[in-house]
This record gives sequence, C-alpha cells and structure tokens, in this order.
Amino acid sequence: MKLSALSQALLGFTASVHASTIQYSTVTGYFLQDEASTDPSTFDYTAVNFGLINRTYPADKELKHHQSLTQWERFYHQVQKLNDDSPCNVEYKVLFLGRHGNGWHNSAETYYGTPAWNCYWAELNGNSTVTWFDAALTPAGEDQALVAHNFWQRLINEQHIHTPDNYIISPLIRTLQTANLTFNGLDLPHGAAPFAPVIKELFREGISIHTCDHRHNKTYIHSLFPSWRIEPGFTEQDELWNGVTAETTAAQKARSTRALDEVFFTEEYSKKNSYVSVTSHSGEIASILSVLGHRRFSLNTGAVIPVLVRAEHVKGENTATSSLPWTASAHCTSPPVTSVSACVCASSASPVTTPLVATGI
Ligand SMILES: *[C@@H]1O[C@H](CO)[C@@H](O)[C@H](O)[C@H]1NC(C)=O
Ligand SMILES: *[C@@H]1O[C@H](CO)[C@@H](O)[C@H](O)[C@H]1NC(C)=O
Ligand SMILES: *[C@@H]1O[C@H](CO)[C@@H](O)[C@H](O)[C@H]1NC(C)=O
Ligand SMILES: *[C@@H]1O[C@H](CO)[C@@H](O)[C@H](O)[C@H]1NC(C)=O
Repeated sequence: MKLSALSQALLGFTASVHASTIQYSTVTGYFLQDEASTDPSTFDYTAVNFGLINRTYPADKELKHHQSLTQWERFYHQVQKLNDDSPCNVEYKVLFLGRHGNGWHNSAETYYGTPAWNCYWAELNGNSTVTWFDAALTPAGEDQALVAHNFWQRLINEQHIHTPDNYIISPLIRTLQTANLTFNGLDLPHGAAPFAPVIKELFREGISIHTCDHRHNKTYIHSLFPSWRIEPGFTEQDELWNGVTAETTAAQKARSTRALDEVFFTEEYSKKNSYVSVTSHSGEIASILSVLGHRRFSLNTGAVIPVLVRAEHVKGENTATSSLPWTASAHCTSPPVTSVSACVCASSASPVTTPLVATGI
C-alpha cells in the first residue's frame, strides 16, 4: 500500500523558514572520536579522558606556566581563543552529547528480538510486567548514569575541567533521569554554572510508532523535576507522536538542525557559554552528528561524546528546514511469527497502520 498521501495528510511537518542559515561543521584534531582510526564499538570515553587528544594548542603560548596546566584547562583556553578571534557570524561550542542509560525498551528489544520488537511489541505500552511507553531507566541504566557522574567528578577534581555552561535535556523520562543522576550532586568547580537544565522538545529521540518515543505530558514531567525549566511553548500533550507515522531520516535531520539553531547565536547560549551538555538519544545524537558533519559514531547506552562545533551564520534561505512528510509504518496486530531476520505477522493479523494503544496519555 502507498501511504505517503496518508502520512502527509496526517502529519505534514512544517518548519519555520529562516532568512539566513547556520552552517555547522565539526573541528577535527582535538578528539579521538573524529579520527578514522578510532573504533566506536570498543571506545570507552571514561578510559581515555573523553577522547581529548594529548597535544599542544596555538593558544598555549599565551598562558603563563602552561606546562603546569591540564589538557582540559588548555583546551578550554583554546576554545575561548577561537571564539575571541572569530568574527561575530562565527561561533565555537563544545557539545557534550550524552546518550541515556539503558531503558526498559532497550531490554525489551533484546528480549523479543529486533524484528518482532519493531513490528509488534514496540507498538504496545508494555507487557504485563514491564512498561516501555516513555521508558524509564533499568537499574543497569542508572548505573551507567552514575559512571558518567563519577567520571565528571574525576575530571573536575583531577583535570579542573570547565563544566557545562548550559544543560539541555530531551523531554523523555530516560534522558531526564540520566541527566539527573549524572549532574545532580556534582561538586562543581568554584564559579561554575549550576546544574539548572532546560527541557527542550526538539532534542527528543527520532519519532517512530514505538511507544518509547511517546512522551509523558508536561504536568507529569514537571511533577518529577519541579525545579527544572521547561522551554516556553512546550505543549501539555505530546503533539508529535501519533502511533501511525514516523519521522523520516530527512525530517529528523531537519529537526536536528532546528534544535541546533536554538543553541547557536542566541542570547541564552551566548558565545562565552561555550560548553553545552545535551542529554539525548542514540538516533537523535546520530542525526545531530550528521548535521555537524561529524563521522558516524554510535554511542553505547550511557556514553557521552564531546564535539567541537564551528557554526557560521550565512545569508540565504534555510532549505534544510522546510516541510518534510513523515511516513506511516505498518505493524502486526498480534504477536508475530518471526524469523531471525524479518517479522512475519500471524495470518489472522495482517499489517495495519492504526495504533495498538490509545494515543492520548
Ligand atoms: C594522555 O596522556 C596521559 C598521561 O600523560 C594518558 O593517561 C592519557 O591516556 C593520554 N590520553 C590520550 C587520549 O592519549
Ligand atoms: C516482559 O518483557 C520483559 C523484557 O523487558 C521480559 O523480561 C518479561 O519476561 C516480559 N513479561 C512477560 C509476561 O512476557
Ligand atoms: C498526565 O500524565 C499523568 C501520568 O501519565 C496522568 O495521570 C495525568 O492524568 C495526565 N494529565 C493530563 C492533563 O493529561
Ligand atoms: C534525581 O537524582 C537523585 C540522586 O541524585 C535521586 O535521589 C532522585 O530520586 C532523582 N529524581 C528522580 C525524579 O528520578
């Protein structure tokens, strides 16, 4: 069945069109994750100082006693120097992109196997013992967030790392919990920005028909973390997830561009606030990396990747963010008869594109 007309009718995702556009690039030469020789599948950010390469920087010579400073102290100075020396239409930031720890949906996908997960189980809110709608962290996922917490504390103590000036979190429960466990209770350096995050819709996971991509309402999110700011305009109900259509890769990339556009060249995230933490998801971080021109680098649950980003404001229409349709995804209506590589619906349950669960939660 051709579903593009249906999906366009259901959800034509129209983005604002800017009169100017921001071009993003990744500045290489600073982090191991940018090197072709680094294997993402075995990379442990905690074992190699976040991947920061041991090297000298052009800005070192301005620092007295630079030999006694740590790599992270000198790197921060180098980033400040890049910003100081750049024209006002160019900005540098270090984004610390963190993936949430293991969630109940990750465990369930492993349990059911990916084909059966995608074509049936993921469209349910859970089974009789586990909930994966807007999945929470498993105990293993909480431990991964605590690994990140301990790692940040070690870098603060031993390397005098400059901690993030801003914290952004995706509105899904697993990212909220991960950021909470990672950053709450850190003994921050003197003068550091406090952990006062903002919850931003556009940094959420790629929106599929899986219920793990369906967020809770604003009232509930606020009740969990009452002191955290939720961005203006954040809707009470999740108006993006519908259980029928899914964001395409191109539509997600356009959204990721708009998400980044909210962080660069704005008053809130000023040029001098050059370190920004973003707690998000595997698919969304991959999409952001793609916008940034970074090589593909998939993160294990709980992992964090720093990226030095150069952003340049140029004149011209932002074609990357114009309206892009989503597509409907078919799924089974009862547990599938699976093979290892593909999903086969039971003969009594042919594929449909209607949600298996109520969409308003
Ligand atoms: C940098 O050097 C230190 C010791 O001087 C070492 O422990 C660390 O692993 C090195 N980092 C990288 C990324 O090579
Ligand atoms: C529900 O899913 C979990 C996987 O996350 C599994 O461990 C559990 O056995 C399932 N429960 C039932 C009743 O099938
Ligand atoms: C918000 O979500 C909570 C938890 O799912 C639910 O109990 C509550 O009724 C919802 N409130 C609104 C206004 O939708
Ligand atoms: C936030 O983290 C603290 C530990 O730092 C924990 O005690 C608390 O329960 C967490 N809050 C939520 C809502 O998960």
